[in-house]
Amino acid sequence: MDHFDYVDGAMRVEQVPMAAIAEAVGTPVYVYSTATLTRHVGVFSDALSALDDPLIAFAVKANPNAAVLATLAKLGLGADVVSGGELRRAVAAGIPASRIVFSGVGKTADEMRLALELGIFQFNLESEPEAEMLSEVALSMGKRAPVAYRINPDVDAGTHAKISTGKSENKFGIPYDRALASYAAARNLPGLDVQGVAVHIGSQLTDLAPLEAAFVKVGALVAALRAAGHDIRTADLGGGLGVPYDPALPVPPSPADYGAMVTRVTQGWNVRLLFEPGRVIVGNAGALLSRVIRVKQGAQAPFVIVDAAMNDLMRPSLYDAWHDIRAVKPSGQRAAANVVGPVCETGDTFAMDRDMDVVAADDLVAFMTAGAYGATMAGTYNSRALTPEVLVSGDKWAVVRARPPVETLIAGDIIPDWLKSVR
Ligand code: LLP
Repeated sequence: MDHFDYVDGAMRVEQVPMAAIAEAVGTPVYVYSTATLTRHVGVFSDALSALDDPLIAFAVKANPNAAVLATLAKLGLGADVVSGGELRRAVAAGIPASRIVFSGVGKTADEMRLALELGIFQFNLESEPEAEMLSEVALSMGKRAPVAYRINPDVDAGTHAKISTGKSENKFGIPYDRALASYAAARNLPGLDVQGVAVHIGSQLTDLAPLEAAFVKVGALVAALRAAGHDIRTADLGGGLGVPYDPALPVPPSPADYGAMVTRVTQGWNVRLLFEPGRVIVGNAGALLSRVIRVKQGAQAPFVIVDAAMNDLMRPSLYDAWHDIRAVKPSGQRAAANVVGPVCETGDTFAMDRDMDVVAADDLVAFMTAGAYGATMAGTYNSRALTPEVLVSGDKWAVVRARPPVETLIAGDIIPDWLKSVR
């Protein structure tokens, strides 16, 4: 559920007309709803209410905007970070280090040092060489790093290949079959305090079965590790729960279904459970607002050329992702159209032959469910400015990331003196 509704024939976000935002900030622009964020945190937390003190660590990669993170911090969420930059952002937005988990296959010694200085809750290790490095870094600082190993359960998440992470051929985690050996080696590393097990098998999962299969394996490993003398206190079940993008597809399992499954499967584990949801918290809380530049005749359907492009919202070109495209002021007529951006690539296509509201030049359209992996994946390809972001709360709204002037893009490049002198 979200808070983008039609009132008097025009889309509003909470109590703010989308057109007012477009008018004031220009397009394209990402628009987020505080009420939707708050609702999703509530729904996800309620789904886990049978658990004892779960730690919900928002996957910052899904939406690292400081205002979004500050909103989630106020609601009590922790953070799952995958870089020193995300770690700094999370802390700057008010998320306590004691609620931060650090994931990722390529943590550097500098990033480890920063996380140890801040005193994060847990490092999710993804390889034995990483464990050795972290132990050395921690020892050099006179500390012990709290760690879990992320295991690769070799489970097919049934999602797009580019966002599947739990198959043995993927780069993530340590092989399940080697886990006992890896933990035994970690126990001998004096800079580590081995406290848990972690798993994350992929994103936009629309079926609970692979998640359950992975969690069952984690449970078995927790028992085996305890039998081997490890003091396992945490189990991090990752993120991955899908959200509805295409109303024509079956609705993915709800957080309540997910919570019930987790509560059932983890019964008796006797650990603190950690979660790393990203998309399910922010996905439907955001839309990308764009203006139609012009409509061009196509061989079949017309091309609706909008001012947003693949650099603003990469998901369709990268994963063939489907985003609902709605007119902000629907004309009442529908027809098939191809929706494309101005970037000079065929892949700069948001939808082909899509049945949608008929739109004309200057009309506003909204790409729905763009709050996760939207603005954060934006770039400046074709020398386009980074997309600004707006946060709405009730009848209030604010620009929470301004559109940088294109001059800053140009000014960032440096022409060396020796080149300037060439005639
Ligand atoms: N934890 C870890 C270790 C992750 O790698 C991810 C996402 C999450 C949690 C959060 O997963 P979520 O709950 O959001 O599914 N850019 C892609 C998605 C990449 C996901 C990467 N990892 C997309 O736009 O679909």
